[in-house]
Amino acid sequence: MPEQALLEQVVAQVRPLLGQGKVADYIPALANVDPGKLGIAVTTIDGTTIGAGDYLEPFSIQSISKVFSLTVALTLYEEQDIWSRVGKEPSGQSFNSLVQIELERGVPRNPFINAGALIIADLLHTRLGAPKQRMLEIVRALSGNPHIVYDKQVAASEYDHSARNAAIAYLMKSFGNFNNDVNRVLKNYFHYCAMRMSCADLSKAMLYLANGGKSLSGEAIVSPIQTRKLNALLATSGLYDGAGEFAYRVGMPGKSGVGGGIIAVIPGDMSVCVWSPELDKNGNSLAGTAALEMLSQSLGRSIF
Ligand code: DON
Repeated sequence: MPEQALLEQVVAQVRPLLGQGKVADYIPALANVDPGKLGIAVTTIDGTTIGAGDYLEPFSIQSISKVFSLTVALTLYEEQDIWSRVGKEPSGQSFNSLVQIELERGVPRNPFINAGALIIADLLHTRLGAPKQRMLEIVRALSGNPHIVYDKQVAASEYDHSARNAAIAYLMKSFGNFNNDVNRVLKNYFHYCAMRMSCADLSKAMLYLANGGKSLSGEAIVSPIQTRKLNALLATSGLYDGAGEFAYRVGMPGKSGVGGGIIAVIPGDMSVCVWSPELDKNGNSLAGTAALEMLSQSLGRSIF
């Protein structure tokens, strides 16, 4: 169990790294964020949350939402229905790359690159009555925070600059691997990415990954074996083309977003969220990765 003082120390030690990364600006509304923000929160399986820095401030969760989407899909579909449409392998490409989808006939490598997340959003669109409202309800329940909302400005900005994601979806559709209307699915996907949550919200919401599938309120969200599988996918593909480096330095399953958040898990123990908007070359939070590295080293914990 980390102490408050350790989290304060982590924030103080990584703060000098601010200025070395670059805030995402390919979604214009994201470029407005203050690059000096830095926060960390930890939730342990006894339900306690502690944090330091800007850990209570909501930010754009972006690709971290892909963890929620896959989790919900696992509750709605047989595994075969999911894994016949998307793979489980690291892509070795950037998160929004198109080349592999053409070469591999419309089947994306994993559910965390944009192409794979769009397949999951397509699956959710088919089974969820009101996909945007339902996702919000699920995430509010997981985090225990009824005030979580979509940032409409970020969602609209993503939609206005959706050429690449639309191209990915249409390319998959051309191979017969996309069932619903592309624009409707894109809108859901952009809303999921545009959810605003704090480090405290996210560390609480992700507790089920550390706790055999049981959420903060004790509800079984997924089974222990499904939890293990989700963590395996996070460890291999959660940080995109930086997954190897992240495993080497941090040693926890994790998922990043271009808003600068990263969630990470020590199974059986705790879920963590860090936030610092400046990104490294793979689109992962630069100071956030350093903070997690320091935390895992200080605690002497790694899954390896
Ligand atoms: O679709 C996109 O490009 C963004 N909404 C999400 C990308 C993202 O967060 C990748 N993560 N590092």
